[in-house]
Amino acid sequence: MIIRPYTDTDEQGWLRCRVLAFLNTAYFDNVLQKKAHYDRPSIELVAIEQNKVVGLIDIEYEETPRTICTAYNTVGGMIWHVAVHPDYQHRRIGEKLLEAALKEAKTAKLTYLEAWTRDNPPIPRWYEKMRFTQKYAYHHLYFDETALEKYDLSVPAQVHPMTMFAHYTGSDPDVLNRASRRHLCMCYVKRII
Ligand SMILES: CC(C)(COP(=O)(O)OP(=O)(O)OC[C@H]1O[C@@H](n2cnc3c(N)ncnc32)[C@H](O)[C@@H]1OP(=O)(O)O)[C@@H](O)C(=O)NCCC(=O)NCCS
Repeated sequence: MIIRPYTDTDEQGWLRCRVLAFLNTAYFDNVLQKKAHYDRPSIELVAIEQNKVVGLIDIEYEETPRTICTAYNTVGGMIWHVAVHPDYQHRRIGEKLLEAALKEAKTAKLTYLEAWTRDNPPIPRWYEKMRFTQKYAYHHLYFDETALEKYDLSVPAQVHPMTMFAHYTGSDPDVLNRASRRHLCMCYVKRII
């Protein structure tokens, strides 16, 4: 297994690796058909085994504090994507991708990394094992048609909302219990020294 910078010819492998990695997680329906490209500088690495993309990490980073990240008043890098193909998980590929990315982050003089993830237990556990700490959290709520009937949404005539996805920063159980699907979305940070 080697870790090297992403190139455009990796795109299909990158997309397949990512979608399979997320299949059994709380982000199962977050499917991309094109890889993201970044306006600001970035660290984009892939893990390759037998010519196949088996892992990936994308970090976009700041030149001015708080233009991408939220945690500190110093420059940081946002982990937009980190994923390991399910057939290759638990072999420290995620850890090695992070180590390689951290090396580049140090060269770029970043002071911390930030990542957001939902509350399916193995993933926060991985961040904690990689010595990230949780900074804050809020809810991601999904409402189906029945749940939406209880809300008086202001939409134009003849528009009939069938589903809604919302960020919720409160903690009212009535709001939380109305959602047909809910996740805690957590911010993890790791200082770079
Ligand atoms: C998170 C992820 C990148 C970790 O990559 P990995 O190469 O499998 O992880 P590593 O081998 O480096 O580290 C393994 C550790 O992570 C944790 N972990 C990761 N996946 C786990 C799972 N499915 N079950 C239990 N623990 C898990 C454990 O702490 C494990 O340590 P252990 O083997 O001593 O129990 C990978 O599991 C993945 O792609 N997950 C789905 C995509 C995702 O949710 N990405 C995070 C973004 S928001």
